[in-house]
Amino acid sequence: MEFRVKRAPRVEAEITVPGDKSISHRAAIIAALSNGTCTLHGFLSSEDCMHTVNALRALGIQIEQPEPDVLVVHGKRRVLTPPKGEIDCGNSGTAMRLLAGLLAGQTFESRLVGDASLSRRPMDRVIAPLRQMGADIVAEGPEHTPPLRIRGGSLRGIHYNSPVASAQVKSAVLLAGLFAKGKTTIDEPSASRNHTELLFNYFLVRTATDGNGCVSVFGDQVPESRDFTIPGDISSAAFWLVAAAAQPGGHLLVRGIGLNDTRTALLGVLVRMGAQVREAVEDVDQLEHRGIVEITGAPLKGTVIQGKEVPQLIDELPALAVAGALATGTTIIRHAQELRVKETDRIAAIAHNLRIMGAQVIEMNDGLEIHGPAPLRGARVASFGDHRIAMAFAVAGLFAEGETIVQDVECVRESYPGFEAALEEFISPKRSRVSTPVIGSISPTRGE
Ligand code: S3P
Repeated sequence: MEFRVKRAPRVEAEITVPGDKSISHRAAIIAALSNGTCTLHGFLSSEDCMHTVNALRALGIQIEQPEPDVLVVHGKRRVLTPPKGEIDCGNSGTAMRLLAGLLAGQTFESRLVGDASLSRRPMDRVIAPLRQMGADIVAEGPEHTPPLRIRGGSLRGIHYNSPVASAQVKSAVLLAGLFAKGKTTIDEPSASRNHTELLFNYFLVRTATDGNGCVSVFGDQVPESRDFTIPGDISSAAFWLVAAAAQPGGHLLVRGIGLNDTRTALLGVLVRMGAQVREAVEDVDQLEHRGIVEITGAPLKGTVIQGKEVPQLIDELPALAVAGALATGTTIIRHAQELRVKETDRIAAIAHNLRIMGAQVIEMNDGLEIHGPAPLRGARVASFGDHRIAMAFAVAGLFAEGETIVQDVECVRESYPGFEAALEEFISPKRSRVSTPVIGSISPTRGE
């Protein structure tokens, strides 16, 4: 399958996006450990998240899906049963690393496998802390890559200083910590997304933070079953936000979007680049904030993305690199070496595709230097089997002269099943109109 994209007419649209991927994985897992039935609304039934759902089913949890975005999870008070075979995590690093933490707490043996891309991704980052906690965990692939064979139980709480700012590592340790004796603490070099902590709190699992970024969980707790509504995924909205931001006068409203402040760094970057962004939090009841983002496009200018900002917009960097190519001046992305171990080497993939489309790009070990504005020309580009590369270059195609063909785009189903329909809506002159400005009076403009 491929996307064929042409230059888009000016954006004037109002959209919603499917549920947050990170939150969907975690909500399913924590609900499965709870003491009763939890209905999860807004669940992202993408391929990635369904791997977690099917893994939980294989571990004896009954889960119904009455509608595509509704999951009814029957928690069994932390009791899981040995799976009959290996557990397939597909393409999902989040599924494999979070499940590794969960399975480290079980006395039975399990084996986690993944597709070719996941089988190349590093697992030593979760193996090290889980072994310290007492789990017997082995990577069967070369250089600590999957499959993972895990036999756990009898875990002890540890204080772990993670060498990498990764929410997957933090979550694996915290999930294992739920099954450990005493207190388990994780410290990371800079803050990553905090969904596990917030969901633990929402499901009444006691955690602690020390104000310096250390997070702790106390063992032996059973999550209290509750219903939960998952907000729209800002990482999916990012593609449309960039598309609107880069069109002077373009105007986009995204409703029902997650506004957790460990995930909104993208909005700050778009403001620095010249776009006008307004956001309004509408719902804080469930700890995960949800609201509206309104963006008005402008001639963008280059910016520098580095340091502590990077873990908080790591998944948005492919889309932001496209914004960088369209901006006047230089955009520098650094301290982003993590991009090299995502679904593909995203630094190499972005540089390759942007160059094919006519942009001037310098590839660095830990990032990219992009010289804009590039008069992008339509081209045939590869997805490299990576959903975010496929979607970012569909957006690049909206700004290119001629037709852009993005190849092998089945991978978008990992995180954004309706992307193709949304793209057609976006290009279509029939799409819904909104009046401007929608938020103005109720929220400050970002950057003011
Ligand atoms: C995720 C964390 C990030 C992100 C991934 C989802 C999560 O990965 O890139 O898409 O849900 O915890 P890292 O933890 O490796 O940074």
